[in-house]
Amino acid sequence: MKKKALDWGNLSFSYIETDYRFSAIWEDGEWSEGELITSSEMSVHEGSPVLHYAQTCFEGLKAQTAPNGDILLFRPDLNCERMASTTARLMMPGVPDALFMRGVEEAVRANASWVPPHGSGASLYIRPFLVGVGENLGLRPAPRYEFRVFVSPVGPYYKGGGLSLIDLAVIDLDRAAPKGTGAYKAGANYAGGLMATQMAKDLGASEALYLDPAEHRYLEEAGSANIVVLLKDGTLVTPKSPSILPSVTRRSVMTLAADALGHKTEERAIDFLAEVDQIDEFAACGTAAVISPVGKIRMNDKWYTFFGGGEAIGPVTQALYDRLTAIQKGETDDPYGWTRVVAL
Ligand code: PLP
Ligand code: COI
Repeated sequence: MKKKALDWGNLSFSYIETDYRFSAIWEDGEWSEGELITSSEMSVHEGSPVLHYAQTCFEGLKAQTAPNGDILLFRPDLNCERMASTTARLMMPGVPDALFMRGVEEAVRANASWVPPHGSGASLYIRPFLVGVGENLGLRPAPRYEFRVFVSPVGPYYKGGGLSLIDLAVIDLDRAAPKGTGAYKAGANYAGGLMATQMAKDLGASEALYLDPAEHRYLEEAGSANIVVLLKDGTLVTPKSPSILPSVTRRSVMTLAADALGHKTEERAIDFLAEVDQIDEFAACGTAAVISPVGKIRMNDKWYTFFGGGEAIGPVTQALYDRLTAIQKGETDDPYGWTRVVAL
């Protein structure tokens, strides 16, 4: 497969237009078969619910090239499942599993020359999304929907690249409400988070860190990633909350920590200020973020530091990153059957 001439090692996490995207339309209770198209533009009616009432949701996953040239997807079944839970919450028609998987695979296959080569440090980000379109004014679900999947080669999400330390800041804004849409990948959650991200950046951090919206005590997640913390007793803990996104990466990391590294793992509420002294390593994890070690967290005008005074990457974070990325890139056995080869 002849690859595009990109500077793979220096990509950032930004949109690069590839040749094809997949599109399917829902109307009158039926899905079209779906097809590959070439235009990156979408033309929608000005009354579309996506434009006014944010009836839109998305997913994010990556494809990587294995040493043998295979193109691997990482746990796409979980993205498909999560999109189904989101569409139900937003009163959108479900994208049938087979349509979701075909959309993802066709978009990757048609753009195979854009999938970064093995060892380049880059990957192909896949963005399936569903928008409510068509003439509308009142607050009601859209009459028509478009499911699209586009792909873009990407580099690291956070500045610094690869496995580099990031800092987070707790901002006095909530991402989600207790019974709101925090656990779903609704576009509106992200518009609501833009200001917190900017405020975090203004404080010198990479991203906002949210506390629970009811009591503002318990760790929730970062703006674009879940959280895992390693306690000084060796337990790896991740927040349990009904208002955070159920991250595919976090679920995988917790499995690897227990099975491959032998850590005790817990999913429970983490009272940040009460427990901060017990935290040795702190990391953010997600498809875009992969596993990003967190050096420092700012809260109430004070910086809290973790492993190595916030200046070094902890060994457990490093080991989890190595294990996870080796599976994702097909460099090691895949004992859980997490990767799926895209037939070319
Ligand atoms: N939390 C939020 C708010 C996210 O946007 C993401 C990214 O998808 C994650 C967590 C991580 O989820 P995943 O590991 O499934 O990509
Ligand atoms: C992802 O990690 O896939 C996300 O959706 C995060 C996004 C804000 C880039």
